[in-house]
Amino acid sequence: MKLWQGRFDEQPEPVFEKMNRSLGVDAVLLDVDIRASRAHARALLNCGILTQAEWQSIDKGLEEILLEYTPDQVKAMPYEDVHTFVEATLTQKIGAAGQKLHTGRSRNDQVATDFRLFVKKAIGLLVADIEAVQHALVESANKHAAALIPAYTHLRRAQPIRWSHYCRAFVEMFARDRERLMEAAGRVDVLPLGSGAVAGSNFPLDREAVARELGFARISANSLDATCDRDFVVEFLSNVALLMTHASRLAEDWILYSSDEFGFLELSEKVTTGSSLMPQKKNPDGLELIRAKAAVVAGVLSGFLSLMKGLPTGYNKDLQEDKVALLSAFENVRLSMTVLRFTIQTVELKTARMMKAAADSFMGATDLADFLVTKGVPFRASHEIVARAVRSALDQGKQLDEIDLREFSPFFADLPPDYLAPERIVARKALIGGTGAALSNSGTR
Ligand code: ARG
Repeated sequence: MKLWQGRFDEQPEPVFEKMNRSLGVDAVLLDVDIRASRAHARALLNCGILTQAEWQSIDKGLEEILLEYTPDQVKAMPYEDVHTFVEATLTQKIGAAGQKLHTGRSRNDQVATDFRLFVKKAIGLLVADIEAVQHALVESANKHAAALIPAYTHLRRAQPIRWSHYCRAFVEMFARDRERLMEAAGRVDVLPLGSGAVAGSNFPLDREAVARELGFARISANSLDATCDRDFVVEFLSNVALLMTHASRLAEDWILYSSDEFGFLELSEKVTTGSSLMPQKKNPDGLELIRAKAAVVAGVLSGFLSLMKGLPTGYNKDLQEDKVALLSAFENVRLSMTVLRFTIQTVELKTARMMKAAADSFMGATDLADFLVTKGVPFRASHEIVARAVRSALDQGKQLDEIDLREFSPFFADLPPDYLAPERIVARKALIGGTGAALSNSGTR
């Protein structure tokens, strides 16, 4: 059955039919399509298009379809898309009344409505996934409150920080991702139904009532815009691409930190694999795949932006690909966030190795320069003095705390003996936002 056969003499070429068919992808919209159709049927009842009896049989028929079919069952059925499946199945069930359901609407406003309902739910699920990752990070931060690691710039040891400060850096990134998704949800929350194919509907549908029934905050103001607006898809993809970018940075850090060269972390065997050839290997495949999927999701964003660019105003069939794009990104992001959470929850910290690296006293060079500043030496001069000390220690193959600093400035005679201990270096950065701040040990925000 086709929703548009009347004008045609010929049947579509099978290969075109295969291309045109979206049911394999949009079957996941089954429940939202039925919800939206039930709301539309009520609007048709309220403007006198349906009798009470017709409305009742439509409403009941739709409810039955929801109970009788799962998206997986529907996927392989011989219909063009989920809207065709629902309408055809309804008409088989209840007869003539089913043929009245599509009055005053088009698949263009219908699919935009369905997809917005879907994306609202998807955002809710992702926000919960993000919160779970944040939670795992805060737990690790609290569990290892005394652990220190080097912070790196240019991937060279820079200054020691608390492990909790490291974890909370990602809590911050993910907080912004969560915030962005929730802000974007407000712009998804608009009902297109009632926009028809492009110009609106000839029937006085109570759109506000439909919006209330479906839980939309607002109704769209312009039917031409509403039927071809996919900003919400672009925003979703852009927000998850950035979320994945953050996840990939954590993944990359941990791939390094769990290597023999760093030796800070031991990944669980549950998220690693062995080698078919090299018996000794324990590879960080979970984290590597998160890193790769970040690229794949960014590609989906880029591809969909290209699809939208220059698209003529009004609905075009190109828009059918919006589901392919968003659903694949959504699946990859959910998988990645779940694996990431599990990886964080199961990682072991090799705190002795971390501490040893954090105790590299060259990372206290800035603190030495700042010590001289407290004695009245201008920073530019103190930087120079300490740089000479660093150079001398390097030349002698010694640590910075192993040479006599008084050779470089008499003020160093007053230097407290544990001045370069990493705990002291960390504690000194006690201002808000610093690794020594009490705040860096508080709960999530
Ligand atoms: N399957 C289509 C989509 O996902 C539904 C809308 C079809 N509209 C049309 N005028 N052919 O976009």
